[in-house]
Amino acid sequence: MAMDAERQMAQLTLSDGRSLQLPELSGTIGPDVVDVRSLYGSAGVFTYDPGYTSTGSCESKITFIDGEAGILLHRGYRIEDLAQHCDFLEVAYLLLRGELPDPASNEDFAYTISRHTMLHEQLTYLFRGFRRDAHAMAILCGVVGALSAFYHDSTDITDPHQRMVASHRLIAKIPTIATMAYKYSIGQPFIYPRNDLDYAENFLHMMFAVPAEEYVISDVLARAMHRILILHADHEQNASTSTVRLAGSSGANPFACVAAGIASLWGPAHGGANEAVISMLQEIGDVSRVKSFIDRARDPADPFRLMGFGHRVYKNYDPRARVMQSTAHEVLGALGKENEPMFRLARELERIALEDDYFVEKKLYPNVDFYSGITLQAIGFPPSLFTVLFAVARTVGWVAQWNEMIEDPAQRIGRPRQLYTGVPERPFVPIEDRG
Ligand code: SDX
Repeated sequence: MAMDAERQMAQLTLSDGRSLQLPELSGTIGPDVVDVRSLYGSAGVFTYDPGYTSTGSCESKITFIDGEAGILLHRGYRIEDLAQHCDFLEVAYLLLRGELPDPASNEDFAYTISRHTMLHEQLTYLFRGFRRDAHAMAILCGVVGALSAFYHDSTDITDPHQRMVASHRLIAKIPTIATMAYKYSIGQPFIYPRNDLDYAENFLHMMFAVPAEEYVISDVLARAMHRILILHADHEQNASTSTVRLAGSSGANPFACVAAGIASLWGPAHGGANEAVISMLQEIGDVSRVKSFIDRARDPADPFRLMGFGHRVYKNYDPRARVMQSTAHEVLGALGKENEPMFRLARELERIALEDDYFVEKKLYPNVDFYSGITLQAIGFPPSLFTVLFAVARTVGWVAQWNEMIEDPAQRIGRPRQLYTGVPERPFVPIEDRG
């Protein structure tokens, strides 16, 4: 429970002279919050915070971000340590259960997840209803939402066992669905998951294997995949996680909630940025054109944003971007692509942007999306799959946050209010009297 800091109270005096006391609550680390739950009932006014720049929507124990210091913790562990020392399912276990698994629990969890990786065979027919050129995110959104039509035995959110089974199913099946969407788009047969492979190896196998020959998994690429998935697993109350929580607060089943999260993540301002970074680098084309694009990003009249830069919370370097950059180095080096022009261009763009006074003043640094696209493209993923991969990883975070919300005794249906600036009440005018 949030600690109520020795009953410290914030004073609020309204313009009409009324004065209110609102409790200040403290977490274990990070900013205190002013608890405004009683505000409307006692003063008849709402708070107003479009975009929620100053609003805490919930209490959580899963992820902590210090945007000024560029720190990201999952259950207290630094993302840099988790990315370096763990595999993806270890971090998934940590996010879901609150502790890193011991060897036996780690093996048991990996076994459980691997036994849920296959889909009901009837679901393969769902793919055939999509155009071959459908964006993989559209297919992912549709098929994940449809899971609730196949797994009724894990949609009762009041049953902890069913919540756990649905959580395992979502974590296990999202890579299978993602790779099926890719295979469908290129006209290749679906590749079934294999229980002898770990989560990242299986993902690469289902993505790139073909029945006609053996697919040899590169240890470097598998290691890089674990790291990329870990870096994207959870990130506090971002737009897509807040979407999952809001959908779940009505009691919607977890499959429908994750489908809503996928839809939100798809936006270019959020998870779609990695794909947008590659498009931007391709449009820039050469280092000589970087300055003109920086100038466009600085121009308030130009809607152009430098993709992969800036963040609502980080006003320092996104710690994930540093790990992503070193992972890009490793992958490109292992593939003999260290002189990849796109990577050189990205490094030069980053150098110029970080020296530019607009970016310095606005505290705009590279975020996790800036280097992920270059890395994924080097591994062989087409840009249309970048956000899909982000969704595969973030499913763990969505599921962990959804469970935390359902188990929170203070949880109620999310129902924000508004500042109404429309037309006040007026008499109805029959159609014959209009015009
Ligand atoms: C993700 O929330 C999360 O945690 C998200 C995420 C996660 O893991 O879930 O971290 C994943 O979504 C990373 C962000 C990926 N998106 C992009 O890279 C797209 C490009 N970035 C921008 O669209 C923007 O930075 C946002 C959307 C990420 C944040 O937008 P905000 O909240 O408006 O940023 P801000 O308030 O800090 O902006 C401060 C100023 C603004 O100018 P003024 O209104 O003060 O004049 O900086 C400007 C912004 O217009 N600005 C940019 C910019 N980003 C912000 N100017 C040029 N280029 C940019 N990229």
